[in-house]
Amino acid sequence: MRVLLGMVTALAVAGPGLAEDATRGGVLYAQHCAVCHGSGLSGDGPMAGVLVVPPPDLTRISERYQGFPRIRIARIIDGRDPLLSHGGDMPIYGYVFGAMSQVMRMEGGPTLLTAPEVVDLVAYLETRQRP
Ligand code: HEC
Repeated sequence: MRVLLGMVTALAVAGPGLAEDATRGGVLYAQHCAVCHGSGLSGDGPMAGVLVVPPPDLTRISERYQGFPRIRIARIIDGRDPLLSHGGDMPIYGYVFGAMSQVMRMEGGPTLLTAPEVVDLVAYLETRQRP
């Protein structure tokens, strides 16, 4: 019975969604992102004024894409989205956060291997979307 319970717990932790920590994502956001995107996520951080491309309002991601595209957002943050190399000011965080060791899933869709910090940041951003 004990072994069985252990297995169930292991499966639950590995399942989609449960290995994300939006609270930690919020702390990372304050440390790395608020300087441009603003502490309220609306794109009005202290550095926004000196950027060539204005930082977008991160509470409107769902509105912009008609749903929250988790994988796409993770690729923007870890720097794999090629659009960013075409002149955007958004920094590449894949190297800052290090190990690409966590699998991120999209409901019924693709998976992505990225850094645990990126997974937490995406979870945080998802909780901050306007209804
Ligand atoms: C130096 C300023 C700066 C910092 C720091 C910064 N960003 Fe950005 N971010 C931008 C800019 C500018 C864009 C728009 C880039 C473009 O359109 O090419 C952007 C775009 C984005 C987008 C795309 C939004 C969309 O709707 O497509 C996401 C998501 C994002 N940033 C998240 C983050 C996160 C999370 C962090 C912290 C880990 C962060 N950013 C740190 C400037 C910044």
